[in-house]
Amino acid sequence: PKFSEVRVDGTLEIGGCSVPELADEYGTPLYVIDEQGLRERMREYRDGLAARWPNSQVTFASKSLPVLAAYGIAEAEGLGIDVAGAGELLLALEAGVDPKLIHLHGNAKSDEELRLAIEAGIGLIVVDGEADIERLDALLDRPQDVLVRVIPGVDPRTHRSVSTGGTKSKFGLPIPQAQALIERLRDHPTIRVRGVHMHIGSQILDLEPFARAVEAIAGIGEFEIYNLGGGLGAEYHDGQEAPSIDAYLDTLTEVARRLLPAESRILIEPGRSLVARAGVTVYRVNNVKRTAATFVAVDGGLADQMNAALTATKFTPVIAERADREPDTTAQLVGRQCESGDLLVDGARLASPETGDTVVLAATGAYGYTLSNNYNGALKPAVVLCRDGDARVAVRRQSYAEFLAPHLSGGPGAWA
Ligand code: LLP
Repeated sequence: PKFSEVRVDGTLEIGGCSVPELADEYGTPLYVIDEQGLRERMREYRDGLAARWPNSQVTFASKSLPVLAAYGIAEAEGLGIDVAGAGELLLALEAGVDPKLIHLHGNAKSDEELRLAIEAGIGLIVVDGEADIERLDALLDRPQDVLVRVIPGVDPRTHRSVSTGGTKSKFGLPIPQAQALIERLRDHPTIRVRGVHMHIGSQILDLEPFARAVEAIAGIGEFEIYNLGGGLGAEYHDGQEAPSIDAYLDTLTEVARRLLPAESRILIEPGRSLVARAGVTVYRVNNVKRTAATFVAVDGGLADQMNAALTATKFTPVIAERADREPDTTAQLVGRQCESGDLLVDGARLASPETGDTVVLAATGAYGYTLSNNYNGALKPAVVLCRDGDARVAVRRQSYAEFLAPHLSGGPGAWA
């Protein structure tokens, strides 16, 4: 089933819930996740990989949607969890994820993070160079499984801010350095190298670079575990085409069958392709103005939708009250933050936009909430999960009191 439907009266619904009603009840901006859609994509990945390579594990790149509910759902659907730092680790543990299924990444890990990870007994730590080895060596008093992150040296042909596979990447080690490190650790008493990790980038719409990358890491040597990363792109706007999960898994496992040891374990860690299309962001139109262009200004923007600026993502917006109507207006759909770069959709096609309308940006389930911030005093939006017409609050909206609290340690008048 599709995650959104248009009701007979023309209103948009998600997971069976009316979007304008959600906006009234929970306020805007608001992230809405179609829970069923999310679970279906998790199963598609899980079953698809297991069918092709039984000794495998799909790991949710939780940075794409770090909300407790998503960790709980991923765990229930049989996925592992990839965390990019202590905060995400705490969320995974809080959700009750088996520590053995948690993997920690990072190119600048702290002692604190590594200590928390070791204490929790997580399954794998992905090391990103000498510093991680020195820290682990000092912290460990029992064996810890690790993977070494390598740079496969492949151009993923995506936006440069999310390209990580090329030789100039800040993540991982070039293959010869990785090999030297692995060799040195061969008889280490506590740091046990179980395999290698790579991740060539995000929002990749072309399967070829994935195949080249698997070929590159196969050349490093024979290991128990190969973590092939994430990165499959999502369809963001009308006319954009992303490869299917099946086609992506075919590509990876076809190369793996030729070049990786048959008994090795394959891990993958998708984020965006699991959650992007399961979520939308809901805004209220606060101003419609016809000046040099038609400007439709909503009550969110750069503070809750950083990707629009970071990676020039093109979204297709829809007015939830008139989702059945053909667009008749070309407008600049802009946010409320004090930057001209706070442009959500350049040349948006909208159906008679008016102040008070509810605007929905589809396919914003990934990297929206996690990149949200307090720019211009914006409060971080709530996240709501909808399923069969029931809405549940996964994260409540930040309050003004929470926004102010960190500033108040000195007491009133402290800076006078
Ligand atoms: N594994 C590692 C080590 C990663 O760094 C990432 C994403 C993933 C897996 C998941 O990749 P995915 O399947 O989601 O493409 N602000 C950006 C997102 C940055 C991606 C960060 N790394 C954007 O939305 O364009």
